Amino acid sequence: MAIFMNEPSRTFGEYLLIPGYSSANCIPANVSLKTPLVKFKKGEEAEIFLNIPMTSAIMQSVSDDKMAVALAREGGLSFIYGSQSIESQAEMVARVKSYRAGFVNSDSNISPESTLNDILVLKEKTGHSTVAVTDDGSATGKLVGIVTSRDYRVSRMSPDTKVKEFMTPFEDLIYGDETTTLKEANDIIWENKLNCLPIIDKNQKLMSFVFRKDYNSHKNNELELIDSSKRYMVGAGINTRDYAQRIPALIEAGADVLCIDSSEGYSEWQKRVLEFVREKYGDKVKIGAGNVVDGEGFRFLAECGADFVKVGIGGGAICITREQKGIGRGQATAIIEVAKARDEYYKETGVYVPICSDGGIVHDYHITLALAMGADFLMLGRYFARFDESPTKKVNINGNFMKEYWGEGSARARNWQRYDLGGAEKLSFEEGVDSFVPYAGSLKDNVSLSLSKVRSTMCNCGCLTIPELQKNAKITLVSSTSIVEGGAHDVLLKDNRQIL
Ligand code: IMP
Repeated sequence: MAIFMNEPSRTFGEYLLIPGYSSANCIPANVSLKTPLVKFKKGEEAEIFLNIPMTSAIMQSVSDDKMAVALAREGGLSFIYGSQSIESQAEMVARVKSYRAGFVNSDSNISPESTLNDILVLKEKTGHSTVAVTDDGSATGKLVGIVTSRDYRVSRMSPDTKVKEFMTPFEDLIYGDETTTLKEANDIIWENKLNCLPIIDKNQKLMSFVFRKDYNSHKNNELELIDSSKRYMVGAGINTRDYAQRIPALIEAGADVLCIDSSEGYSEWQKRVLEFVREKYGDKVKIGAGNVVDGEGFRFLAECGADFVKVGIGGGAICITREQKGIGRGQATAIIEVAKARDEYYKETGVYVPICSDGGIVHDYHITLALAMGADFLMLGRYFARFDESPTKKVNINGNFMKEYWGEGSARARNWQRYDLGGAEKLSFEEGVDSFVPYAGSLKDNVSLSLSKVRSTMCNCGCLTIPELQKNAKITLVSSTSIVEGGAHDVLLKDNRQIL
C-alpha cells in the first residue's frame, strides 16, 4: 500500500510567528543575517557564507551577470542560469569575476571623424553627457580624447564640425591605468576637480571610467559578498546532461559555487553529477543539489556529497508542475520536514548541510518564516524579476510598468536548446508559464526594505542571528478566519490601491 502523509502539506501563508522576549539589545542594527552556504563539520566554519540569506533563481528571466553583481553588492549570491550555451554562461560568470565596482564600461563612444551632430544624437540615445573618443569609436579602442558638454556650443558651432576639432585631446587628459584602485581614482577625481576619470591599459586602450557621481554608491556596501581577491562571488546552475563539459568551463571562468538545477532531485542523475565533481575536484568545488521536499530526498543528496540541498517542488510563482504532474509539497511543510532531517543528519554525522528554501516567497514575512522553519537561505525568482537589474524587458501594460518573468520549464525558456543545440526533441508539455510581474525599481532599495522587515521581526522574536531564530522561534498555524483578521477588515479603504 502507498505511504500516506497524515498531515496536509502547508504553505507560508498558513503560519505566523509569535513574539518572544526582546531585550534592549535586540535592535535591528544588532541583527546579523550571515548564514552558511555550504556544508561544514561540527566545530569548523563553512568555507562560504552569505551575508544576507538570499540567492537569485537559476532562471533566464532572473540571473544574469548584471543581477549577480547587484546582488553580491548587497551580500547575496546569484546562480547564473544554465539554460544557455556553455560559452555564454561561462562568459557571464567571467564578467562578474572581472567586474570592478566603480569601474564602468563606457557606453557612449565615438570616433574623432564623427561630427557634433553625431554627438548630439548619441547623447539623446544614451542620456550621458561624457563621450569617449576612441580611434575606432568602440568602447575598447585607443583613447584619443573626451567630449563633455563643456567642449561645444550648439548655438555657435556648425553641426558638421568634426569631433577631433573640439574634443579635449588625450594630451590634456588626466587618466588612470590598470593598477589604479577605486580609492586612488576617487582621490584623483577630487584633487583635480574632474567629473570622470578614464582608465586605460598600457596600449592606451580604453578600459573603463570612474565617475564622480558614483562616489557615494561605492561607499556603503559593507555587506558585499567578495572572494579573497576582492572579486564579487557568483554561482552557476548546471544540468545532469552536459555537466562533464559545463562544469570545467564554469570553474575555469571563476564560478565560486555550482548548483544542479532540476525540479526533482532525488535521482541517480544527480548522484552521478555529485560523484563526477568529487572524483575530479575533491572538496574544492562546491556544489548544491535538489530539489527535494522530504527527509528521504535530503539524506540521499547529503550522502551523495551535496554541499547544500535545495528544497521545493511546485511552489514557484510561474510553476505549474503540481497541476501538470501532480507532484510537490506545500513549501512550509517541505522546509519543516527537510530541516528536521538536516538536524538529525548533523547529530549523527557531525556534518551540517545547509538547506535552501526555493520558490513561493510572496510577502517579505515569508522570508522570516522560512528561516524560522529551518531554512539557512532562500532562492527567489519572482521577487528579483521585478527589479531594474533583471535581464527581462520592462513594458507598460494599461498604464502600469511590468517586467517579464517566465519559468525555466516554459516553452520560452526551453527553446534555447532547440535553437542552440539543434536538438529535435519536441517539448511534450510545459511545467512553467510566461508572465508579467509588477516593476518595482532597484534591487538595492527593495532588498534593504525587505531585510529591514526581517531584522525587525527577528527582534520581535528576541533573536539576533538566523541560528537563534531557527532554534527559538515560536510558530503557529492560523485558521482561515484569523487570516481575514490579519488584513485590514471591517473598514472602507479610502485608498483603493491593489497591493500586489
Ligand atoms: P518564485 O520565487 O516563486 O518565483 O520561484 C522560483 C523558483 O521556481 C525557481 O528557483 C525554481 O525552483 C522554480 N521554477 C523555475 N522555473 C520553473 C518552471 O518553469 N516550472 C516550475 N518551477 C520553476
